[in-house]
Amino acid sequence: MNTQALIDTAKKMVAGDKGLLAMDESNPTCNKRFAKWGIPQTEENRRSYREVIVTTPGLNEFISGAILYDETIRQKKKDGTPFAKAVSDAGIIPGIKVDTGAKEMAAHPEEKITEGLDGLRDRLKEYSQMGARFAKWRAVIAIGSGIPSEGCIEANAQALARYAALCQEAGMVPVVEPEVLMEGEHSLARCSEVTEEVLRTVFYHLYSQRVMLEGMILKPNMVLPGSICPQQDAVDVVADATVRCLLRAVPAAVPGVAFLSGGQTGELASARLNAMNVRFKSRMPWELAFSFARAIQQPALEIWHGEMSNVAAAQKALYHRAKCNQAARRGTYDAVMETEDSDRAWRSGSPMKVLVRAQ
Ligand code: 13P
Repeated sequence: MNTQALIDTAKKMVAGDKGLLAMDESNPTCNKRFAKWGIPQTEENRRSYREVIVTTPGLNEFISGAILYDETIRQKKKDGTPFAKAVSDAGIIPGIKVDTGAKEMAAHPEEKITEGLDGLRDRLKEYSQMGARFAKWRAVIAIGSGIPSEGCIEANAQALARYAALCQEAGMVPVVEPEVLMEGEHSLARCSEVTEEVLRTVFYHLYSQRVMLEGMILKPNMVLPGSICPQQDAVDVVADATVRCLLRAVPAAVPGVAFLSGGQTGELASARLNAMNVRFKSRMPWELAFSFARAIQQPALEIWHGEMSNVAAAQKALYHRAKCNQAARRGTYDAVMETEDSDRAWRSGSPMKVLVRAQ
């Protein structure tokens, strides 16, 4: 294991106030998002959409790494360039999702366990040869009546730690993603309690599996009230609760914490990340970054709609959300950034105006 190379890659992934772009939706998830906008769910459309993303001019000003899916890393751009090469040619570090999905957990109704450890050592070798320099594994923890159970938290944390150890052995930086889901009516306080317990358990197992903390990235959820909780707390309250929870549970040796967006709107995810950096930047031992999928991609997907004629406008929307999130890392994001760019799009007659009107 080349320890220094892992440390260097992990640092690069959160350097320059940039963040990660998750574009690793599995085929069923990608198809579900296409179906919502009436986009035909074909392999070629998934390929074209990913080409729209990776060929966005200037994306590397804000994005340090992009997480690909197994199908995508085996695909090529129209001109024949493999996607992993296209990503690194764009000045972005290629990464790969390596879990095989969250499945129903036996004897644990309503809970899931993420699978994918069997054969992982060989798959990591293959992905590394294809150019991937980091990997991602997502565990999901639901909050509800009587859940999460200790068994679910323990099993998922141990799997995350075993995955992370295998990644480092293969020279790839593990992005460790324990996602406490936003769905439900639970309060922010309950989310905080569960997130802290999950993170403590994950770091216990990472330590026990001898994972080098300096060579990994944590990808947690923000501490949020449930999506149907009657009390939706203010941005600053979410920022305070999230950073307090992380400070208690995440060792200072970890170079970066990069949030998932989990179903928040792009604007709210940016505003909350911004508030954390404004209020706590000088007190945090790790870089506080983003690794969003929906909160960066959603407007672009909506605009693209499967049509070549919409590519430039979709890329502009993607660039805009990535730029907002770099500003959020700097603590300089302002909601006015949303209207400034939209106004420009409106004047130039791009399809972004349709989106702005619909909001
Ligand atoms: P969202 O930002 O859409 O939650 O996706 C992040 C991710 O990578 C899920 O694994």
